[in-house]
Amino acid sequence: MKHFLDIHKTAATDLRAMIGTARAMKTARNGRPKGAPDDDQPLAGRMVALIFEKPSTRTRVSFDVGVRQMGGQTMVLSGKEMQLGHGETIADTARVLSRYVDLIMIRTFEEQTLLEMAEHATVPVINGLTNRTHPCQIMADIMTYEEHRGPIAGKKVVWCGDGNNDCASFLHAAGQFGFDVTFTGPETLDPEAAFVAEARAKGATITIDRDPHRAVEGADLVVTDTWVSMHDPESAKERRHNQLRPYQVNEALMAKAKPDALFMHCLPAHRNDEATSAVMDGPHSVIFDEAENRLHAQKAIMRWSLGL
Ligand code: CP
Repeated sequence: MKHFLDIHKTAATDLRAMIGTARAMKTARNGRPKGAPDDDQPLAGRMVALIFEKPSTRTRVSFDVGVRQMGGQTMVLSGKEMQLGHGETIADTARVLSRYVDLIMIRTFEEQTLLEMAEHATVPVINGLTNRTHPCQIMADIMTYEEHRGPIAGKKVVWCGDGNNDCASFLHAAGQFGFDVTFTGPETLDPEAAFVAEARAKGATITIDRDPHRAVEGADLVVTDTWVSMHDPESAKERRHNQLRPYQVNEALMAKAKPDALFMHCLPAHRNDEATSAVMDGPHSVIFDEAENRLHAQKAIMRWSLGL
């Protein structure tokens, strides 16, 4: 069973192969209309369940389009509308869905829900985001960096702001793809210590620097994300904005990075909070390539999970 649960739980060779598959599949589409099928139809006759317990634009549409391009069919399910949202156990849901579909992608709150789904499903399960990690996003980000600048190994990635689920998956990727991460943000929003330790144990240099301008010096890639995540309480908004304001990615901050540094944001963004529009729409930004590459990276992840 090849579940795609997290970047640090997947072999580095497999991750590298998935990036290669994603790039090859993107190239093979060669500008054809979005709804046109791929030449290769590995998902023909296959059904994929896409479960969302949280809102989504990119994950929902990119998985749906990706499955259809590969010849499969999708069923988009909202957690609230399923019996899962009305007391049925995750284990029973996993066992039942496995009788109907060939693959399950789930976006949920608690990581434990994902892990229980994977434990009891008899088909592969893909992590479409939990409160703790967002591996599909970071696979698309690695692909995007390498399309623009070549191998990411040995590069300096600077994460600005909240050490959230996206940041966690960047730390996991640092250990697997061999790049370094500098986190700059307030101490109360540091990434999980266990993720930092694991990346260091795999040989990545992980630095924590409270001074954003010093942290960004020499960066090859600057990344940020929304200051208030979907699972954060609304009451935290004002405090987080006050804490994170010094870590806004603006033109002055980007000027400290290398001249050819890239800027990434997984989106959705709150423009002029975590990053200014001047940066988001500026010469360093590859945010819409990142969004597009969700499609290609996830197609490769699905192929890997199904052994196709
Ligand atoms: N980046 C991302 O996961 O976007 P959605 O929340 O729109 O899926």
